[in-house]
Parts: sequence; C-alpha cells; structure tokens
Amino acid sequence: MNADFDRRFLMDWLTEEDPLRLADLWRMADTSRRENVGEDVHLRGLLEISNFCIRQCAYCGLRAPNMQLQRYRMTEEEIMECARKAWKLGCGTLVLQGGEDPGLTRKAVGAVVRRIKEETPLAVTLSLGERLFDDLAHWRRAGADRYFIRFETSDTELYRRIHPSLPSRSSARLAILEALKELGYETGSGIMIGIPGQHVHSLVEDLLLFRSLDLDMIGVGPYLPHPETPLGRTGAPSPQSFSDQVLNSETMVYKVMALSRLLCPEANIPVTTGLATLNREGGYEQGLQRGGNVIMPGITPLHFGRNYEIYPGKVRFLEITSAVEEIKKRIRSIGRTVGSGPGERQRHVQGTLPGRVSLE
Ligand code: 5AD
Repeated sequence: MNADFDRRFLMDWLTEEDPLRLADLWRMADTSRRENVGEDVHLRGLLEISNFCIRQCAYCGLRAPNMQLQRYRMTEEEIMECARKAWKLGCGTLVLQGGEDPGLTRKAVGAVVRRIKEETPLAVTLSLGERLFDDLAHWRRAGADRYFIRFETSDTELYRRIHPSLPSRSSARLAILEALKELGYETGSGIMIGIPGQHVHSLVEDLLLFRSLDLDMIGVGPYLPHPETPLGRTGAPSPQSFSDQVLNSETMVYKVMALSRLLCPEANIPVTTGLATLNREGGYEQGLQRGGNVIMPGITPLHFGRNYEIYPGKVRFLEITSAVEEIKKRIRSIGRTVGSGPGERQRHVQGTLPGRVSLE
C-alpha cells in the first residue's frame, strides 16, 4: 500500500453514489469507531463566549464588516455560571468558542480557564481562532487541555480566495496546529464541505492531512451560505459549476466523517451542529453511526447565542437542560452510552502513526 493507493481509495469513496455500496463504508467506519473509541458518546458543552471578530472570512456571518449583528462578549461570571451548568448537565468538557476577538485578552481568557479548572472537573477546549504563540502558551499553563482550529481546506488557492485581507495563509493555521502540539494541547482541526470552488480531489488531500497531522479531534461540517457574506450571496455550490465541485450535502459530510474515522481511528470526531442543521431529525444518530463519537450541545444562553450566527438556521435550543436530556435519549436510542469524564483521546499504540487505509 502506498500514497497512490490511499488517494485512489479515498477518491473512489468520495465519488461513490450507490447507496448499497456506501452502506459498506458506513459499516467499516462504525466498526472502526467501536473497536477504537468504544460505545461512549462524549458530551462537550459548547459556549460561544464572544461574537466579535477582526477577520473578514468570505463565508462567515461573524465577519467584521457584518453590521447586522449585535456584538457581545461574555463576562467571567457569565462564563462561570455556564460552566457550572455544563458540569451539572453531565458534560465532561467545556468548549469556549469565539470569533477572533482581541478583546478576549491573554489575561482574561487565562483567568477564566484557571477558574474553570479550579472550580470544576471539566476539561477545557479553546476555539478562539489564530492567536499568538504566547497566548496559547499562557492558556495552556492556565490549564486549557485542548485547542481547535480548522484549516478549512488544503487547497491553498481556494483558502486565499475565501480569506481576503489580513495576512491569511492556510500555512498560518498549520503552523498554529504544530505549535499547539508542542505546547502539549490535544489538537483539533477540520474543514468545511461544499465550499463553492472546492474540488473533490482537494478533499482527498484534506483527509490525508488529517492523518499526517495526527489530529486528536476532527470536526467537519457542511458549508452553509450566509446571506450577509460575499460568498453566501453567490448561493450554494451546484453540480453544474464544474465536474468535481464538492456538494454541501448530508451524504458528503457522512463520507468525510467515515473516511476520517478510517484514517484516524483513535480521533474524537463530533457530529457537528452544521450536520444537525442539515438533518434535524436524524443527523446526530446517523453521524454517530458513520464514524462520530462526540456531540457538542450548545449551552450558550439564547440572548447571546442568537447573535452567534456563523450561518443561518443553526440548531439552537430554547431550553438547555431539556435539550441535553433529549440528546442523551437520542444517544441511548441507537444503543450507545453517554460518556462520563473528559473523554480525552485514547492512544492504543503509543508512539506509532495511525495505520494506512485498508479494505480489511
Ligand atoms: N457554513 C458552515 N460553516 C461555517 N463556518 C464559518 N462560517 C460557516 C458557514 N457559512 C465554520 C468554519 C469555522 C467554524 C468556526 O465555523 O469552518 O472554522
């Protein structure tokens, strides 16, 4: 087996349309998931702590020029209240996510991370965009366990096109991923699926990059057009654009999740809110049966969260406690168990790289 074999394997599955054959892919991914990360589904409470953002990403509703948004930044007390709530609800991890907001200072984030670690048993994941090495180092010392930053696409030309202004090369995010590892963070990344201009062959490279980065967490979701963004105004990707345009379809997301599981068997792979937004009825269940082993219930108080509009129509619950109970019920309904504790990445074979794709 070699790199060409892997590319062919990935390309064949990404372009497969026969549902009967795809059932084999879902089965392989589910078997790998069971053998490598077990039946537990870990809950990570997702708290959106600020929607200020200095970036101008062409796809994202939080982009700085979007004036339709009321901007907010949660205080330390507000964050602590939500952290206690997440703990009470049975989440083992709290994810603090935000736009790229200089108002979230090194000191302020460090202080709240330290308090969460002192006052709760929660693991803390940060997802705060491209930050300086010294920020990342400070937050790690304060006790942050994990950091998540998507590289979005490995196609450098496409990356440049959707990240206008500011120095924004995808290599900056890759450098951050390396720095995070050096600092001892569990490290997560991912992509959007169905960006206009995204070719299927670039998805193959994205998947191979997941493996070579040896990611601990892989988050993938559909690109969903936001009308207040330059990219959103051009509409959804269409099969007519060019022959191997990636569609932002539910099936394509499952394919990428399933292949991620085969390439990175030990990774924690969430069923993202984006996927749940595409299929509110069965997205969580199917994602969990096609490679996923994590759900991130949104726990942001609604009066803040309604302004955290990365894309329109985001799944959001009116009442957090019953929403988490509902998610637990859905996990159990497919014979899985609700995980307890932080649910960190398990390493079965220490010090070796994850295996190559194989058909066995
Ligand atoms: N559709 C889907 N995902 C989006 N993101 C940002 N905007 C959109 C959109 N319109 C994702 C990006 C980013 C993460 C925080 O949200 O992948 O990394």
